[in-house]
Amino acid sequence: MKKGILIAAALALGVFAASVLAQAPTYVGSAKCKGCHSPEMRGQQYPIWEKSAHSRSFATLGTADAASLGVKDPANDPQCLKCHAPLAGDLKAEGVSCEVCHGPASAYKSMNVMRVKEDAIKAGLASYANDEAVKAKCLTCHQDAHGKSFDFAAQWAKIKHAIPGR
Ligand code: HEC
Ligand code: HEC
Ligand code: HEC
Ligand code: HEC
Repeated sequence: MKKGILIAAALALGVFAASVLAQAPTYVGSAKCKGCHSPEMRGQQYPIWEKSAHSRSFATLGTADAASLGVKDPANDPQCLKCHAPLAGDLKAEGVSCEVCHGPASAYKSMNVMRVKEDAIKAGLASYANDEAVKAKCLTCHQDAHGKSFDFAAQWAKIKHAIPGR
């Protein structure tokens, strides 16, 4: 009897683990956000990001300035990649992409999920309760980066991409 319960528990755990693994959201790339998040009426998030330094942060690692920082191969050095290009594989080239801040999008990017914020958050969209939470995210990379201080209000104003009316 006891054994039966144990087996049942082990099976349940196995099913649970498998479903968690199956549902773990994956990164899809910023191009997938472009169609819905370019129109002016929605707030032009994609073009704002594309014009920002965040979309060029991986390319920066190939510049002469990067080479002068004393690291042999900046574009492949984890010391530089952790802030300039945190995603693996093909998505490295996107630098600080949408999903670096908003979370892996495979499960939230469809219209019916995106439309309802609570559903999107359940599907993996990162949520920020207030400006303090946003600032904390920025500081994971901007705290003393290259010895520079970080003026949150000024820097956030440069890349903010609100939905009109919010
Ligand atoms: C099929 C269209 C579609 C795609 C693709 C899409 N979105 Fe959205 N997204 C929406 C809609 C619709 C909303 C709801 C707000 C609105 O009406 O503009 C939204 C809202 C959001 C919000 C705000 C959530 C909230 O309500 O505060 C974020 C953040 C977001 N999307 C990020 C992304 C990212 C990152 C991608 C790409 C990985 C993406 N979206 C792809 C349609 C889309
Ligand atoms: C994953 C790391 C990371 C996060 C998170 C991050 N940034 Fe950045 N940010 C960078 C890197 C790297 C650069 C430099 C890009 C380049 O020029 O190559 C940068 C550059 C910038 C720039 C351009 C600076 C200039 O003077 O040209 C602004 C503005 C900025 N970030 C604002 C923010 C804000 C606001 C947040 C939080 C909402 C944020 N960043 C979150 C890594 C990050
Ligand atoms: C802790 C996060 C972090 C790490 C680690 C980091 N960077 Fe940066 N880097 C930044 C941020 C943030 C900026 C933008 C600073 C600003 O202008 O406000 C930046 C800017 C730069 C710039 C200037 C870009 C421009 O257009 O002016 C170069 C070059 C650079 N980083 C190269 C590197 C190299 C090479 C490495 C590895 C040795 C590295 N970084 C490691 C966060 C980081
Ligand atoms: C450096 C981090 C960062 C990057 C990169 C970034 N976002 Fe955001 N985004 C934020 C933060 C922080 C907010 C405000 C808090 C929130 O609504 O979650 C936000 C808000 C939004 C909103 C909702 C705006 C509103 O008014 O409620 C949408 C939609 C969005 N982002 C889409 C995108 C898309 C699409 C990309 C890429 C093309 C992108 N973001 C890139 C950090 C980022």
